[in-house]
Amino acid sequence: MKCAVIYFSLTGNTKKVSQAIYEGISSANGQCDLFQLKSVDLNSLDKYDLLGIGTPVWGWAEAAPVRIFQESMPSLDGKHWFMFATHCADRGGVFYHMAKTLQFKQATVISYRSWYGEMWMPQYPKPYPTDGHPDSIDLSEAFEYGREVVGLSEQVYQGANNLIPQTFGPVRDRLHLEYIPMQLNLEKCSYPKCRLCEKRCPMGAINFEKKPPLFRQPGRCVNCLLCEMICPKGAIEADYAKEEARARETVIQGVIPLIKKATTKGYLRQLVPWSDLKVDTPLYRTEKWGKHPRIPLSRLP
Ligand SMILES: Cc1cc2nc3c(=O)[nH]c(=O)nc-3n(C[C@H](O)[C@H](O)[C@H](O)COP(=O)(O)O)c2cc1C
Ligand code: SF4
Ligand code: SF4
Repeated sequence: MKCAVIYFSLTGNTKKVSQAIYEGISSANGQCDLFQLKSVDLNSLDKYDLLGIGTPVWGWAEAAPVRIFQESMPSLDGKHWFMFATHCADRGGVFYHMAKTLQFKQATVISYRSWYGEMWMPQYPKPYPTDGHPDSIDLSEAFEYGREVVGLSEQVYQGANNLIPQTFGPVRDRLHLEYIPMQLNLEKCSYPKCRLCEKRCPMGAINFEKKPPLFRQPGRCVNCLLCEMICPKGAIEADYAKEEARARETVIQGVIPLIKKATTKGYLRQLVPWSDLKVDTPLYRTEKWGKHPRIPLSRLP
């Protein structure tokens, strides 16, 4: 069976899980390819019998680059697909949305699974209750999951259609991500020596060759905040304070109850004790935040 795992990952969590699933599939099947979303040739998808697609959860749904990728796929001709995700609060409607598009493209969706991941949004508390994930236990689960989906796909190709899921988790609308005001300070920016934000923006919303430079192009920018976090010069200046109160309320009213429920039900092994969580210290106000880039580039996919 020809297999591939495709993933998008902004801050590395989904990449780690993808690698483990890929290794699991390779060990069970003897072959698997692993691709970052941006390097996939859409015309080559039909050579695979089993494909996995992985995403971080953004606004209760798949990340925007994954949505765009899925919408541009050709007909998938009944081939088997599975979906996986990482998230920091709840997986929301991610699989509902992804399955809908995959099925519209004639894929057979055979399975889905999600894991918790570390949080890197500057307006949210650090430490955050899901920090430390995915850890080695999560990655062993992901490896086993890779082995499982190979067996499942073989059975379904042999006619065991009763093994195909009929529903894909809760139905939840996509949420627009919080808008954080940002400014490009051209005096600090070292373009064209540096082109990091332009190269790394997952939505192609930055183009400094344009006159005037195009930064956070409306309609494209999805407020992922990566550009601010990776700029080595601090040339992208964000006003996180504007969203701090709202983020704190979201954590108190939304995230903490969800995390408590997940911990009680055994879905989450919390690695950060509650006593370490301080809702009043968002990442952008911690000591680590002073230097640029904010996030170690070695961590990025
Ligand atoms: C722009 C953005 C939006 C997010 N929205 C959600 C969300 O709606 N629900 C959730 O549980 N986590 C959310 N998260 C957290 C990510 O899903 C989580 O950190 C994920 O593991 C990141 O994966 P990555 O490191 O592969 O990018 C969001 C993160 C970002 C950057
Ligand atoms: S916040 Fe920055 S990196 Fe993210 S989509 Fe917008 S311009 Fe691109
Ligand atoms: S990452 Fe910073 S310094 Fe580099 S091009 Fe972007 S704004 Fe300029």
